[in-house]
Amino acid sequence: MAFPEAWMNELMNRNDIAQVISEYTQLTPRGGKLWAHCPFHTDKTPSFSVSPDKQLFHCFSCKAGGSVIQFIMQAENLPFIDAVRFLANRAGMEMPNEIDDRKLMAQKNRRERIYEANREAAKYYFKALYGPEGGPARRYLQNRGVNIETAKRFGLGFSPDGFDVLYKHLTEAGFSREVLMDAGLVVPGRKDPDKTYDFFRGRLMFPVINAMGKVIAFGGRTMGPDEPKYINTGDTPVYNKRENIYAINLLKGKKLDDVIMVEGYMDVISLHQAGIDNAVASLGTALTSQQARLLKRFAPRVYYAYDGDEAGQKAMIRGIDILRESELEPRVIVIPGGMDPDEYVKAFGPESFLVLKDASITGIRFKLERAARLNGLDTPDGRERFAREACELIGALDPVERDRYIPFVAESAALPIDTIREQCGASVGKSSNNTAPARYNNYKKPKRDGERLLCEKKLLSCVMVSCEAGLDISRLESFSLTLFSSPHLRAFCAKLIAEYSVKGRAEIPLMVAELEGEAAEEVSSAYSDTDDISSPVPVAEDLLKKLGLLTLKDELTELSAKVNAAADPAERSALMKDYTAKFAELQKLTKA
Ligand code: UTP
Ligand code: MN
Repeated sequence: MAFPEAWMNELMNRNDIAQVISEYTQLTPRGGKLWAHCPFHTDKTPSFSVSPDKQLFHCFSCKAGGSVIQFIMQAENLPFIDAVRFLANRAGMEMPNEIDDRKLMAQKNRRERIYEANREAAKYYFKALYGPEGGPARRYLQNRGVNIETAKRFGLGFSPDGFDVLYKHLTEAGFSREVLMDAGLVVPGRKDPDKTYDFFRGRLMFPVINAMGKVIAFGGRTMGPDEPKYINTGDTPVYNKRENIYAINLLKGKKLDDVIMVEGYMDVISLHQAGIDNAVASLGTALTSQQARLLKRFAPRVYYAYDGDEAGQKAMIRGIDILRESELEPRVIVIPGGMDPDEYVKAFGPESFLVLKDASITGIRFKLERAARLNGLDTPDGRERFAREACELIGALDPVERDRYIPFVAESAALPIDTIREQCGASVGKSSNNTAPARYNNYKKPKRDGERLLCEKKLLSCVMVSCEAGLDISRLESFSLTLFSSPHLRAFCAKLIAEYSVKGRAEIPLMVAELEGEAAEEVSSAYSDTDDISSPVPVAEDLLKKLGLLTLKDELTELSAKVNAAADPAERSALMKDYTAKFAELQKLTKA
């Protein structure tokens, strides 16, 4: 951490989370917390909670959470260091080792101005589409089967084909040339840099709107044969295409089962119009981890429906890995005949598209099929190459998931199942994590909190209540950090206890502020998901019992699987002995 602790403490003290957040959304007190409609997604019931005492926020619906710093990072779309600077400025503090940097407030104002300019531009384009000069664009939409209602839902517009009509309109509305250039709406002339041209001219306009409903960028499609087909706003102070997703603003606030990821603006629009309203588009071809994190707020599963060409395939392969790394479940919808989703729904209707969706394959299966195609399965060499590649791929999966693909690989490679199994085994066990018990090495955050995670969260919140309670709990005989299956909760609890014992206190919001986004979310939810705890030690004792039981049950399940799998009778009977001993232990515990 680059900032001195005392300074950071001061920063957090001077930026009360409730005050900061109330500048973005209205907070209402209820049950010891403050509640609001979550500013990060469309939220019908107020599911966004702020704990003034712990200085943390947590959205029960989209799971966003953290300290005031993570809040600013998300609300203002800033990296950590800039969020710190933002808050320092807000509190009138100087950055350590930095000359007074009041530019930041100016920067916030500049961003606000850019949002306003974008909004005004979107309105202008929208009006133009329905005005006299919008005739060709309206006809273009009609030819492509987009109805007015849909066009309005997406805020589509038309950029008139003058040199500087938008520029003139917006300067008259009070926007400076500088702001408009920053927004990417106008550009200096190539020959004469003092001249100013509209960036989008004579194009059908697609505003890009973020989850908070702000217009952050535009795409513009030509309606004629000229190239390029689309031009898009480049990176600006309010827009980075790697961090945003087209149509994210139209996703329902409640958690969806899945979203459909397509390549193009028109694909999204056609699918929505056909009633498939969970379609979104990544704004380049390859998905980034920031985009995956954003998607995760909305749904646990992502269906890819990219174009079948080589570029689309490659982008999906990379995206599948990124989604898996972000603990999202990737699936692939294969569209026959090289059509894109827009063409497909138009030709065959939404029901047919949903049939394709039902027939989708997992991301891994997609990778395996591609490997099979690229290596060629008609020669022994090709089949061997495929088998090796496939085994390396599925060898990295956990055993349960791996098992699902072994028959397919064996059959495609025309090799016995046992050979494949053995080859996979050779690629297993590359990574290990010494701090966690082996059975949690492949920890995947569950979609909904199970009993175990709820217990772990509650246990952590007991430790968070006070230094005394935390230390008492850590000294209980039944306490062990390995009871946490969640690496985030485990690491945080370890750090918390260390702080307690070294300093006799812990600055929890500050500790949360320093966590990576996902860890911050999980720790904040631990605090928010649990009720107020008045006597933490006995509550923790109970939880430790429960967690001990759950661990024992996990171990028993694992052992029984091993017993079933053991071929050697001696091994089997040894395992059986372990099993019986553990079972007796469990019985003793349940009785007590
Ligand atoms: P496609 O070429 O597949 O376009 O590009 P599309 O969406 O099917 O377009 P229509 O149906 O011809 O209108 C997919 C996406 O890639 C980006 C755009 O976001 C587009 O929607 N793209 C494509 C560009 O940014 N620039 C281009 O010149 C082409
Ligand atoms: Mn298309």
